[in-house]
Amino acid sequence: MKKEQKNIGIVPRHVAIIMDGNGRWAKSRLLPRNFGHQQGVSRMIGLMEHAYDLGVEYVTVYALSTENFKRPKEELEGLYNLVRKHFVEGVRRVCDRGVRLRVLGDVSLLPQDIQDLVRKVEADSAQYEGRGVNIALAYGARAEIVRAANEAIAEGKPLTEESLSDRLYTAGQPDPDLIIRTGKEKRLSNFLLYQAAYAELYFSDKMFPEFSDADLEEAFEEYARRTRRFGKTDEQL
Ligand code: IPE
Ligand code: IPE
Ligand code: MG
Repeated sequence: MKKEQKNIGIVPRHVAIIMDGNGRWAKSRLLPRNFGHQQGVSRMIGLMEHAYDLGVEYVTVYALSTENFKRPKEELEGLYNLVRKHFVEGVRRVCDRGVRLRVLGDVSLLPQDIQDLVRKVEADSAQYEGRGVNIALAYGARAEIVRAANEAIAEGKPLTEESLSDRLYTAGQPDPDLIIRTGKEKRLSNFLLYQAAYAELYFSDKMFPEFSDADLEEAFEEYARRTRRFGKTDEQL
């Protein structure tokens, strides 16, 4: 039977997701945290596919922050193994649909084999235009901004809003229209601080592994109902 196409109105051009709550999801089921991360990776791939099906052009996901390096070694090792096994494989499948990968973050902080794996997918998908997937890995927004500023200082060039944008990991891409955070918390945790200036924020109480395709549609429906004024009055829009 043909699935009925849902009319969800205006879809964000660029959606970014803070995938939070894997650990608590697992804990509530008496399962190891890393099992939660594993479920999180499958959900991430599913949501990406659904987002592109709905017409989104850019999907950015927050996978590992610079602050996450402070987690216990065992959890980090588990995360690295997951990246090696399922994550890169899943992202490659998404890219094979004609999506270009960009990794946001200081990849040099990751084990060498992971750097090689993600750079390879980045290079292989560089031929694609139009749709993009950004994976924030070893990412911190403050570090991203400082790095951009230092680059400009080294070149002796004053920064403008545009030239700073052009030095960020997301250079050339539209800013996120919608930022979704799962896992109940209502904060940005050092994610896309510069790019988020006019993003609509959406918070879900669901833990990331249980954030379904229908939940994504609900977030988009809410986004479509919002009025983005960018400083203007309603009458000026
Ligand atoms: C988000 O889930 C994934 C990463 C930060 C890698 P968490 O691991 O933060 O899950 P909670 O917040 O502890 O539930
Ligand atoms: C944000 O989640 C980072 C990622 C989702 C990768 P955290 O779980 O690290 O955020 P805090 O520590 O609760 O702010
Ligand atoms: Mg968390």
